[in-house]
Amino acid sequence: MNSNKLEYILLLYILLFVLACEENTTMPPSIEFKSFPEKDIQFDSNGDIISSDIDVSDFHSSDKCVECHSEHVAEWKRSMHAYSMRDPVFFSGWKSEHSNRTETGERFCIQCHSPVAYVTGTKLDKYINEYETITGLQEDPELSMSIKEGVTCTVCHSFTGISKTVETGYDVAAKAEYHMNPGEGIMYGPIESSVEIDSSENSYAHKSEYNSLFRSSEACLPCHDFKIRGVDAEITFTEWNNIPQFGMAGLVSCQECHMPINGNGYHSHEFAGVDINLTEPIPEDSLQYKSVKKLLQSSVELKFGGSNAEDAINIENGVLVILVTVKSLTGHSLPSGTSFAREAWLETIVRDADGNTIYSSGKIEEPTSDLNFSDPSLVLYSSDLLGEAGDIVTSVTETYDIIPKMLPGLSSQVHKYIIPEDFSEINQLSISVRMRFRAFKPSFLEEEHSDLLARQPVFDMAQIDTTYLIP
Ligand code: HEC
Ligand code: HEC
Ligand code: HEC
Ligand code: HEC
Ligand code: HEC
Repeated sequence: MNSNKLEYILLLYILLFVLACEENTTMPPSIEFKSFPEKDIQFDSNGDIISSDIDVSDFHSSDKCVECHSEHVAEWKRSMHAYSMRDPVFFSGWKSEHSNRTETGERFCIQCHSPVAYVTGTKLDKYINEYETITGLQEDPELSMSIKEGVTCTVCHSFTGISKTVETGYDVAAKAEYHMNPGEGIMYGPIESSVEIDSSENSYAHKSEYNSLFRSSEACLPCHDFKIRGVDAEITFTEWNNIPQFGMAGLVSCQECHMPINGNGYHSHEFAGVDINLTEPIPEDSLQYKSVKKLLQSSVELKFGGSNAEDAINIENGVLVILVTVKSLTGHSLPSGTSFAREAWLETIVRDADGNTIYSSGKIEEPTSDLNFSDPSLVLYSSDLLGEAGDIVTSVTETYDIIPKMLPGLSSQVHKYIIPEDFSEINQLSISVRMRFRAFKPSFLEEEHSDLLARQPVFDMAQIDTTYLIP
């Protein structure tokens, strides 16, 4: 979705919302969902199951869907949902969680990354211990495909009820709630007319049932809203829900931005976000790369100047002042989710007429270089997790507090660069500002995943340029 189109949709929704409020002073009722049968699962305080009516064979591999839903399958395979149990960064984090917290660590990570293992109580300890890399686990013939596929088709399409935010206490045990009815040959989804598909010998035929949950953001709740020790660690759903035009009015769901309707009339299952598969070389024409780039280029708008009529750029008493406004077009904070791993920042460069750099902020030499954190003018959107001793930690399970430095959804911020310099010999300046993004701070990958770091792209989200004639 390009930013003009996005803005147009947002405006339209806001207008509709305002009109609705004028007609009817009470808030619109919160969405009501029909109730469906669900299978019983009981967990103990470590996140292990006491009993579960669900069996691994109730789920299916995406291979069973490909015959009739080939485009959904191809798109999903390019999504991070399909990567959730292929991600080497996940595997090393999971391994260390398992060794740090032997009672709870193994369950904790897979509650969202491999829900089939979680709801069926399939223990994966032996795979964590046996294999050095996640490729080993993936190639193990004993382990069911639906576990290896992570956030797979039949996980989501078995959802029958709404989940809550995952709130983990000091014990860091799995707490995710799933309301689902797998194994009955019914696929729940957004299509209102029910269908009955005849089975052929080698295909998986199913009944279907319309569930309005699939059209609303609540469908993403089981995994995209997470608090630990009361800290708002990864709260994408809550951030979305707190935007009045979105959450309260139930407008512009996650799906509208992350599952847009394709040319074929179906909803994209690429779930484009900010991450890409870093385990292989990334050609510029890779479909995943292009989708992420497109999404990032619809996230923000930049402009010179602030909110009122003051000069966007001026020089007074030998001091150059540049105002830049960053406006979010995103339906939650930017970055969101694992914001502590991400960096979105402004690169601002001022050059003279000969192209010599007079000033710069946020410039990195290589895509793998660190930002200069001692630059007081650096505009960086990210977050820091703090450990028990108040130090910065990189693992979400060590979190006792968070310093949020994100750009809140749909908000605007004005930044002022104050640049003292001798401008007496210069008559013209060219000023260029770019907002850039990388999914991992280099320090997150440096030690264990330098091969992935070397491939990680830096995206340009937006750019503005101007020339200023010095009076
Ligand atoms: C993360 C959850 C999730 C996963 C995983 C997922 N889907 Fe969906 N799917 C949805 C949602 C949500 C919708 C409805 C989107 C809407 O209506 O806005 C949907 C819609 C559909 C539809 C209805 C047609 C359409 O596009 O609207 C089909 C068919 C479908 N999915 C098949 C699949 C298949 C096959 C897979 C695996 C390759 C899969 N889904 C994986 C969440 C998921
Ligand atoms: C033999 C063909 C066939 C197979 C195999 C198949 N489906 Fe379907 N499915 C259909 C048809 C036909 C529809 C009707 C909608 C359409 O045309 O896309 C449908 C609809 C759906 C819907 C929408 C349900 C609703 O009410 O919104 C979902 C979700 C879905 N399928 C998921 C799956 C998943 C997941 C698999 C693999 C485990 C799968 N299907 C395998 C033929 C099939
Ligand atoms: C108005 C459009 C819009 C809506 C609505 C929206 N998103 Fe996003 N989302 C974006 C854009 C643009 C980005 C890329 C910028 C960023 O990282 O925030 C993004 C990024 C993400 C990411 C990667 C975040 C990161 O930085 O690590 C996740 C996960 C995500 N969205 C999930 C969701 C979920 C879940 C919902 C609903 C609760 C949702 N989004 C609603 C536009 C939207
Ligand atoms: C069963 C848990 C689960 C559900 C339900 C779920 N997700 Fe996810 N989602 C994940 C996990 C886990 C990842 C990260 C996988 C990885 O990178 O290893 C992810 C990643 C994503 C990303 C990519 C983020 C990035 O960093 O690029 C987007 C976008 C996203 N999800 C959107 C959605 C939306 C929209 C919904 C609801 C329709 C949804 N998800 C439902 C678990 C889930
Ligand atoms: C409450 C659900 C949940 C739990 C528990 C969870 N994850 Fe995730 N994970 C997600 C979602 C959702 C995303 C995508 C978020 C985004 O892109 O902002 C994600 C993304 C990731 C990513 C890729 C993005 C990044 O920058 O870090 C890694 C690696 C990861 N998780 C590792 C882990 C490990 C290791 C554990 C256990 C210590 C874990 N996760 C526990 C839901 C979860």
